[in-house]
Amino acid sequence: MTRLPHFVRMVEVGPRDGLQNEKTIVPTAVKIALVERLADAGLSVVEAGSFVSPKWVPQMGDSAEVFAGLTRKPGVRYAALTPNLKGLEGALAAKADEVAVFGAASESFSQKNINCSIAESLDRFAPVMAQAKAAGVPVRGYVSCVLGCPYEGNIAPAAVAEVAARLFAMGCYEISLGDTIGTGTPAKAQAMIAAVAERVPVDKIAVHFHDTYGQALANLYAALELGVAVVDSSVAGLGGCPYAKGASGNVASEDVLYMLNGLGIETGVDLDRLIAAGAFISDAIGRPTASKVARARGCA
Ligand code: HMG
Ligand code: MG
Repeated sequence: MTRLPHFVRMVEVGPRDGLQNEKTIVPTAVKIALVERLADAGLSVVEAGSFVSPKWVPQMGDSAEVFAGLTRKPGVRYAALTPNLKGLEGALAAKADEVAVFGAASESFSQKNINCSIAESLDRFAPVMAQAKAAGVPVRGYVSCVLGCPYEGNIAPAAVAEVAARLFAMGCYEISLGDTIGTGTPAKAQAMIAAVAERVPVDKIAVHFHDTYGQALANLYAALELGVAVVDSSVAGLGGCPYAKGASGNVASEDVLYMLNGLGIETGVDLDRLIAAGAFISDAIGRPTASKVARARGCA
């Protein structure tokens, strides 16, 4: 019998990974209200924005204002993406509680997403790590394209493990493994996680599944079976990645929570409040929710 974790930390990435792909600029006040509602639902980590080039990702151009406008809830960590030192400076000025660097297991995706090779990205992250450490701010490390790349196709588990191990050795407190284009399946996900777990302790691994091919919950369960206990998700299944054509949103937070509740796994998150936060943002952007649980509960 497999032992599943007793507690899973849900990392809410909707306000960043979800909204970054919206073509129409979402008003700052709506972003702030969304982050606050997510915190009120009991999520302890909310990725509230990213300090990247506004030319590359215009939707995140107001992250400083989002952070400045938040009424922060004690015990909640408000996180931001920071690709380089300029991004870190912005995040520190905005008083982000934690930041994240983001690399890839695929050379082509690294070039398209952050305009440099994998090796160059790691060189860029080194000073970010050092300054964040000096400021006492924890750094998370993302690895994208862990189960496939839009440009290169299949990605070897060893390539993922190598980047994950490098980020962990640099001081990232947790490594989030991203199936950016959502092509993974459970056995493949387990083989990849097993390869990473040889280099990074499993309690430092998070999973980040996009649901493009409808496999995210199955992959997630497969990850739980290996002892992974940190899960990224996006309320209402918002999003996609601007540099991965056709990638749909992350697995919907409501659907993840419903499954975890059914498994008797604690999260500290309230399903009704989470569904209400999803309804709020779906309404605001004029798009039906991608969460099946929210739809079953009557949300349009
Ligand atoms: P670059 O053009 O190589 O950078 O972009 P540069 O250093 O040559 O600077 C060019 C211009 O950008 C300059 O401005 C800089 O000041 C500015 P200019 O002189 O032309 O006016 N700039 C910045 N502005 C604001 N904030 C900054 C910043 N840095 C430079 N931090 C860079 C390199 C990394 C900046 C660019 O490629 C970029 O912003 N990429 C972001 C891509 C992105 O956000 N992708 C989505 C997030 S990743 C993701 O979704 C995957 C994930 O969810 C996991 C998964 O699903 O797998 C995490
Ligand atoms: Mg993502």
